[in-house]
Formats: sequence, structure tokens, C-alpha cells
Amino acid sequence: MKKDLLAILDLTKEDILAILNRAGELKADLRAGRCHLTLKGKTMAMIFKKPSTRTRVSFQTGMFQMGGLALDLNMDSLQIGRGEPLPDTARVFSRYVDIILIRTFAQEEAEALARFAGIPVINGLTDLFHPCQVLSDLFTIKEHLKKIGGVKIAYVGDGNNVAHSWINAAGVMDLDLRLACPEGFEPDKGILDRAIDLAIKSGGRIKTFKDPKDAAFGADIIYTDVWVSMGQEEGVEGKKRFFQGFQVNSGLLEKADPHVKVMHCLPAHRGEEITEEVLDGPHSIVFDQAENRLHVQKAIIEAFINKNEGKKGCQRD
Ligand code: CP
Ligand code: NVA
Repeated sequence: MKKDLLAILDLTKEDILAILNRAGELKADLRAGRCHLTLKGKTMAMIFKKPSTRTRVSFQTGMFQMGGLALDLNMDSLQIGRGEPLPDTARVFSRYVDIILIRTFAQEEAEALARFAGIPVINGLTDLFHPCQVLSDLFTIKEHLKKIGGVKIAYVGDGNNVAHSWINAAGVMDLDLRLACPEGFEPDKGILDRAIDLAIKSGGRIKTFKDPKDAAFGADIIYTDVWVSMGQEEGVEGKKRFFQGFQVNSGLLEKADPHVKVMHCLPAHRGEEITEEVLDGPHSIVFDQAENRLHVQKAIIEAFINKNEGKKGCQRD
């Protein structure tokens, strides 16, 4: 396994399956009231340059449940906010903590942090990718459908960071990914082309559609995300115009498999990318999805810290 998790493509299919299996054990144990202090004495620094509810609380809670400590660091509380270079912060953090989580704008910033840090860096969302989200979503799909291979996933909406991580996942796993994004809001072509190449080997399928109904036809999963991501608020009303017809609603669900599950990474804008009726309806698994961030991320932290075992950390009695 690589040192850092900056994108799904940093993981092999075997890495992903191992993380999902471990997440399953951790979830079952937690449900049974058992916590394993596998990260006793370990510390995670969490740098947030954008807001977060799920990522922040699930990582912090996960570290606590495993006996470690998570430091929730906003930009305003760090010298980076006053201009201290990121490489210096990376080197300093590497002397104190065992792992870094970063949520920021440019993917290059997360990559630079990883380059200068001697410890693992986990991408907690950039403008380009959201790998922890999609790893958790794979777990949720496995939990509900009892399989991942061949699952037909229709992604409807903005070709954004979450869509890019889905595309990467379909390059590594044997998913049947169908994307419908409005013209001008398609996913990055380079990311798409690379994943399509990889999918030839993995047995995955990635196809783009102009009409969401075609993408949703017979789908096991319909997935959507906000039309306007964090940091893209400028000209938002103008942007929304292009998304009419790309809403996940009961009409779209009729095209899918009768047992279709609806997923959304949240936060959602009811009445925009998804109707209230669907988000809160019987097909929706969005809150299971949100819960699973906790279990999967615990498995991610364990896997990446253990790989760097012996670096730091102390055993507390
Ligand atoms: N889905 C997700 O990453 O949520 P937050 O922005 O609340 O962390
Ligand atoms: N695409 C969304 C995901 C939020 C979890 C954003 O970047 O704002």
C-alpha cells in the first residue's frame, strides 16, 4: 500500500477489499459494544480549509473509539493561515503526530503536504477527489446489495470531486458505472480516460449518458451530489439552470431496478438535486451511508498508521 491516500487510485482492489472487510468487523464490534484500542497513543492532525460535518465528526470519533486522539485544526488556528508554508507545516506535524487528514481546495496542496510529510496523509476532500466518501459508499453498497462486482450505479448530477472518485473506483473495482452530467459540467476527461483504460483490466464498465433516464435504466443504485460544491458558489443561480432535468426524483426512480437504492454523500439540497420525497423515502440509504463513514474511516486510519508502525505513538497504561 502507498504511504498516502490522496485518491482511490492509490489503492489496489485488494487494499480496498481489505479496508471494507476490516470496516465490517469494526462495525459489528461497535454494535456489540466492543471497541478495540488499536490506535492507543496515536494522534491524527485534521486540517480543514472547508467546512465539514460528517468527515470531521466521523474521523474524530473514530480516533477516540480506537484509543487515539484527533486534533481538529481550522486554518484560523494554524500559522498556515498567516502564511507559514505548507511544507514546513508538513515537516513539523511529522515530528508530533502519526497521520494527517486534509480537506482543502487544490488536490496539488494535498499532494504537496504528502510529499513533505514523513507520515501518511489522507485526503478528506479536495476540489478533485473525495476518496474516503466513495470507499465508505462501496461498503454501504456491499452491506445492502451483498456484492460490489457488477453493481449498476447511475451517478446523476455534477461531474465533481465525488463523481471523479466514483470514476476512479470503477477503474479499480468491477463496477458498472453510468454517469449523466449536464453539458459543461462533465467529469474531467483525463480522469475518465484513465479509468476507462484501467477498467478494461479490472472488468469495470464506465459509460457516460446525456439523459439521466438512460443512465438510470435498470440501475441498482442512483447516486447524486449537490449541483454547487464548496468553493464554487460564484454564479450559482446561473449554474443551476443547466441542471434542470438532472434531479433525482420519483420519475427517475421508475426507470431503475424496482429495488433501487438511492445514495447521496450529503449535505443535500432538497428540491434541487434530489426531492424530499426521494431523500426521505423507502429507497434512500443516505443515513446508513453517512454512518458508514465512521466504520470505514476507522479501517482506513488503522491501515495507513499500521503501515508506518513504529514511527511514533506511545503506549499509555
Ligand atoms: N459527505 C461529506 O463529506 O460531508 P461533510 O462535508 O459534512 O464532511
Ligand atoms: N461535492 C461536494 C461534496 C460535499 C461532501 C462538495 O465538494 O461540496
